[in-house]
Amino acid sequence: MPAEEGFATKAIHTGQDPLQWSHWEVVPPIVTSTTYRQDAPGVTRGYEYGRSGNPTRYVLETCLASLENGKYALTFASGLGATTVVTTLLSAGDHIISGDDIYGGTNRFFQKCLCRQSNTITFVDMSDISNVISNIKSNTKMVWLETPTNPLLKVIDIQGVVQAVKQKNPEIIIVVDNTFLTSYFQKPLNFGADIVLYSVTKYINGHSDVIMGATITNRKDLWKRLAFLQNAMGIIPSPVDCFLVNRSIKTLEIRMRQHMENGLAVARFLESHSCVDKVFHPYLPSHPQHEIALKQASGHSGMVSFYLKGDSNKFLKALKIFTLAESLGGYESLAELPSVMTHASVPEEDRKKLGISDQLIRLSVGLETKEDLLADLDQALKASQ
Ligand SMILES: Cc1ncc(COP(=O)(O)O)c(C=O)c1O
Repeated sequence: MPAEEGFATKAIHTGQDPLQWSHWEVVPPIVTSTTYRQDAPGVTRGYEYGRSGNPTRYVLETCLASLENGKYALTFASGLGATTVVTTLLSAGDHIISGDDIYGGTNRFFQKCLCRQSNTITFVDMSDISNVISNIKSNTKMVWLETPTNPLLKVIDIQGVVQAVKQKNPEIIIVVDNTFLTSYFQKPLNFGADIVLYSVTKYINGHSDVIMGATITNRKDLWKRLAFLQNAMGIIPSPVDCFLVNRSIKTLEIRMRQHMENGLAVARFLESHSCVDKVFHPYLPSHPQHEIALKQASGHSGMVSFYLKGDSNKFLKALKIFTLAESLGGYESLAELPSVMTHASVPEEDRKKLGISDQLIRLSVGLETKEDLLADLDQALKASQ
């Protein structure tokens, strides 16, 4: 046996020992019971009430933690549910520094909800670490980053940010939204991040049929506080959804490999196309942080963004295999216009500054036959002229 089990072995076996179930089920059962009989008042066999704990959820959380090389995982009703719980770690008046190019929903959440909690937020371009450091204040309690960013796929040096921030104040909690790459390609905890956060809805589930979020940490203190909030705020996923995600992660490795292959083929194709202005993909040598991407991640998912030379609406309408829809990370290819869809909530002025124009298209390249995807893009690019 190798010193450490491989990713796919862990995905298939960790937390799945059939001996823990009454009929030695090879596939962990969906336990729907909301309550559990007790041997005597207060004497339980591990579970007492379905919001506080559920065996199907526990199987998934155990497996997710192992895939991240982390100690403690928790799952939530959505990625934003996980975000809500993580930001509840803050107290009134605390300051948070966030990447300026993050998921639109998180951005909106930070702008609206945290203000109500009387927290202040500073959005900065984290591809330059000095922007993070120069904005740290005495009340800064959290640094929030997404890498690669959404939708421009800028790569942030996780270890660089962690070292610089912790040197200034080791108490600051560093959260990395790893939704775009998953632990198969990138493990932020290995670089010293405190919490890894996921919209499980995306690549981890990968089948566009479950909304879920997750956090993973090595810190027992944070896990305890997050677990308390998961239960107290009631932001839990259903046992059926936990079963579906647990089934999905059995194929996470092979799906991510194929997303990488298809996504990179699309990026190279677009880069060579006369109807395209500029392509963003961290594994293209033209990407500004290509070297950092190679250093901190072992690959990239199916996310590709590009500036179109033609008419975006005509392009999106002409697509036949790519579906015009929000979200990402499923087996099916999707295309969207961030300026009026996922990032419409970002103020127009900020969108302009960030480069989220009406020419910017974001693709989530799925698992269809590569040649079919390239042919679909080619005909739609021509139709956009
Ligand atoms: C990077 C990222 N983080 C968080 C979220 C929020 O997750 P959810 O939609 O599961 O609430 C999303 C959703 O699109 C996302 O793309």
